[in-house]
Amino acid sequence: TRAQKITTRLSDMMLGGAELRRVGAVFERELERGLQEEPSSLQMENTYIPELPDGTEEGLFLALDLGGTNFRVLLLELRGGQLVREDVKQYHISDALRLGPGEDLFNFLADCVLDFVQSEGMEKESLSLGFTFSFPMRQHSILSGELTTWTKSFKCGGMEGVDVAALLQRCLHQRGLDVTVRVLLNDTTGTLVAGAHIDPAVGIGVILGTGSNGCYMERADRVRHWEAAHARVHDVCVDVEWGAFGDNGCLDFIRTDVDREVDANSLLVASFTFEKYIGGKYLGEVLRASLAALARDRESERGEYAVTLRTLEGACGARLTEADARVAQHVAAVVSNRAAQLVSVSALLRRMSRPYVVVAVDGSVYKRHPRIKSLMQRYIALLAPEHPFSLLPAEDGSGKGSALTAAIAARMASRSD
Ligand code: BG6
Ligand code: GLC
Repeated sequence: TRAQKITTRLSDMMLGGAELRRVGAVFERELERGLQEEPSSLQMENTYIPELPDGTEEGLFLALDLGGTNFRVLLLELRGGQLVREDVKQYHISDALRLGPGEDLFNFLADCVLDFVQSEGMEKESLSLGFTFSFPMRQHSILSGELTTWTKSFKCGGMEGVDVAALLQRCLHQRGLDVTVRVLLNDTTGTLVAGAHIDPAVGIGVILGTGSNGCYMERADRVRHWEAAHARVHDVCVDVEWGAFGDNGCLDFIRTDVDREVDANSLLVASFTFEKYIGGKYLGEVLRASLAALARDRESERGEYAVTLRTLEGACGARLTEADARVAQHVAAVVSNRAAQLVSVSALLRRMSRPYVVVAVDGSVYKRHPRIKSLMQRYIALLAPEHPFSLLPAEDGSGKGSALTAAIAARMASRSD
C-alpha cells in the first residue's frame, strides 16, 4: 500500500532503541576524547566560567547577543542578584554583513551599540559589556577567544585567528565609547547561568533554536585545556559544541540520503552534521527534502500524490488534498521525533555526578515546537533512567545570563586583586 511505501522510505530516519544507545555510546566516547584533547568531533571548550550566580550580583551591564534568530543590544541592571531593569533593542543583520568581511560585521555591531547607548542617553558613561557570541570559540580566558568556525547562517571572511572580544573592543573604542568587554560567552553558557539563577540545581544548559548545543559544569581536573591559572577552581563550564558531533564520520550509521542532500545545500557544507538533524535552521529543509523524495517515488505511479507532493515541493499557493496534508504531517512528526531523540541522547545527564540535575533550556524550537518538550522529557528519561532530571525553560540567556556572567567575572577579578 501507499502507507507502507511511505514508511519504508522514511524507515532510515526512525531510530530504534539500539541505534540510539549506540549514538549515546559514541557521544560519550567523543566527549571523553574532546576533554583529553584527543581527536574528536566534540570540541569540549573550556569557557573559564568556574562558578554560577550566588545572588550577590550587582551592576549595570550592556549585553550583545549575536548568532541566534535576533541580534540584540541590551542594558541590564542587577541588584542583589535580581534583574531590575532590561532595555532591549533589536537590529537587522543583512545578508551582506553575514557573508561579507568580518571587520564590516564587527563595525556594524559597534554602530548598533553606539545607537543603543545614544537612545538611552548614556553615550558618555563608562559601561561593562557581556558579549554573547553563539558560535564555537577557542577561548583563552573568560574574556577572550577566537572563532573556530562559523555556523548556521554566518560566513564572514578574514576571521581566522582573530580574537572576537578584542575586535569588538577596538570597534567600540574607535567610536569613542567608554565600553569595556568584560566577558565573552556562548549562548549555552548564558542559558546555564540564567537557569542556575532561577534554580541552583541547574548544571546543564541546552539550546534548541536555530542551532543546537549544550554546556555543563565539569570537574576542573577532568578538563585538560587550561590557559589561565585555576588554582582554587573546582568545576568549570564546558561548551560541548555538539552541533559538530559526527563531523569526523563517527555518526555515519544514522545518516540518510535526505541528510546528505540537506548538507549539500547548506551554507557550510560538511560541517555541523548533528546540528543539521536538530537545529531549527535545518528541520524545515529535512522535511522539504523528505517530501521531495516521496514525490519522486510517486512519479512512476502517476497517482494523486505524485502531483500534489511535487506541488508541495514547489510550495507557493498550491491547493492540497487532505491526504497530502496527512502525509506531510506524518513526515514532519518523523523528522521532529528524530530531532528530539538525538538532542536527548546528548543531554549530558550521564556526565553528572549529582543525584538530581536541572537542565536549563532555551531556543525557538524548544519554545515553539508543539511536541518537542514532551518528546525530550520522554527520551531523556528512557536514555538515562538512573538520572532524575527536570527541564527548566530559561529564557534570555544572552540578556540576563550574560549580565550575570559579567557580574561573576567582576566578582572573580576583585577576589584576585
Ligand atoms: C535566546 C537566547 O533566548 O535563545 C540567545 O537568549 C540564544 O542567546 C537563542 O542565541 C537561541 O535560540 P534561537 O532560536 O534564537 O537560535
Ligand atoms: C551553533 C553554535 C553554538 C551555539 C548553537 C546554538 O551550534 O556553533 O556555539 O551554541 O549554535 O545557538
